[in-house]
Amino acid sequence: MNKKTIRDIDVKGKKVLVRCDFNVPLKDGVITDDTRIRAALPTIKHLLDNGAKVVLCSHLGRPKGEVNEKYSLNPIAQKLSQELGTQVKFANDVTGQSAQSMASELKEGEAGLIENVRFDPREEKNDDSLALELSQLVGEDGIYVNDAFGTAHRAHSSTEGITHHINQSVAGLLMEREIEKLGAVLENPEKPFVAILGGAKVSDKIGVIENLMNKVETILIGGAMANTFLKAKGYDIGASKYEEDKIETAKELMKKAYEKGVEIVLPKDARVAKIPEGEELTVETIENAESKKVKLYTEKEVQEGKGESLEENQILDVGDTTLNYFADRLEGAKTIVWNGPLGYSEVKKFAYGTETVARVISKTNAKCVIGGGDSVAAIQKIKKAAKQNGEDVKQFQNIYLSTGGGASLEFLEGKTLPGIAALNNAEKQQHKSVTEGNCKSTDQKVVE
Ligand code: 3PG
Repeated sequence: MNKKTIRDIDVKGKKVLVRCDFNVPLKDGVITDDTRIRAALPTIKHLLDNGAKVVLCSHLGRPKGEVNEKYSLNPIAQKLSQELGTQVKFANDVTGQSAQSMASELKEGEAGLIENVRFDPREEKNDDSLALELSQLVGEDGIYVNDAFGTAHRAHSSTEGITHHINQSVAGLLMEREIEKLGAVLENPEKPFVAILGGAKVSDKIGVIENLMNKVETILIGGAMANTFLKAKGYDIGASKYEEDKIETAKELMKKAYEKGVEIVLPKDARVAKIPEGEELTVETIENAESKKVKLYTEKEVQEGKGESLEENQILDVGDTTLNYFADRLEGAKTIVWNGPLGYSEVKKFAYGTETVARVISKTNAKCVIGGGDSVAAIQKIKKAAKQNGEDVKQFQNIYLSTGGGASLEFLEGKTLPGIAALNNAEKQQHKSVTEGNCKSTDQKVVE
């Protein structure tokens, strides 16, 4: 990696502002998935063990620049205290009196968390006055650490603006790991390289498909986005969701892939369900709907009586034949990137495709990187169930789950992420890299 990290600097006695991504799901104030909190612990522990005075900050949700108790970071401070086995203080404002006195009273080896930076309307505007106030919490010789990979695609005061006020701006250990894991698949992938793309929309994945097309041999497509590709190829998709305005894009992407010799594998069969007319596609309606497995036919085949139409049915998961095709391409792969579930994986019966593919990958020797909130959540569920069944979860060890949703997608698109680009470069660059765009080159402020 070409960025300086906390391991390259001396933090003893220094005040360090650490931007984390504690944007975790909460239900009635209770954290329902603490992955991102646990992922931040190595950086915080390193800083505390090395005698830093640690001021933590993060956003949570999208409170739109207003104080909203629902998005308070207080539960996070409590969770951190439990995990670290030492009290993490909490300031109930961002850069006000509470944050200032907390930061000034910290002793070596102590940590405190300030309130949700998005309670301040200046944060998302990358307002320089907020960046300055944040930097003042750690003072003139303070250090800034960005460990919020999940927010690195946002040019906000706490992710980008702040670096213009602090001399030492370095990456945390999670940030370093994410850049290395995701960077490795883009920079130097061992071949064969297979991409698996799912999720709802083609529109979210155009950039990724275009970038990966220059690197992979095969792209496996599932999820609702496959419906748009199927429709573009003249398939009957019944009442399935698809993006009508992306049909042409899908055609162009398939044409480009063909010209580059990249194989795109689309579903051949599916698990479908009939959702009663007028009802939304929700976990409840899907759970209650009758489902069946079907082969997919083109509209022409249906018209000629050579196949059945899906009629009112919606495609909600890939079928067994498709999974055989997918498994065939994955079994020989050395590198795999995966973004987006292959079906409606919140409902068990339509999580089958995603689960099967995860298990196939776990049995290969491929290095696999999975990004995107929904796909990561689906894999975590699978791992949890496997553990409960007494299976050895080490079997999933070749699968790296990124903490980045939008950030991992933009990284895989080959974009420069402002939160990474703003950090100090490592003294010696080890190699030229495709993530080289993420270098501090100017003092210009970036606004998203
Ligand atoms: C995420 O969950 O992807 C990050 O925390 C970024 O959140 P945002 O999309 O609200 O900026």
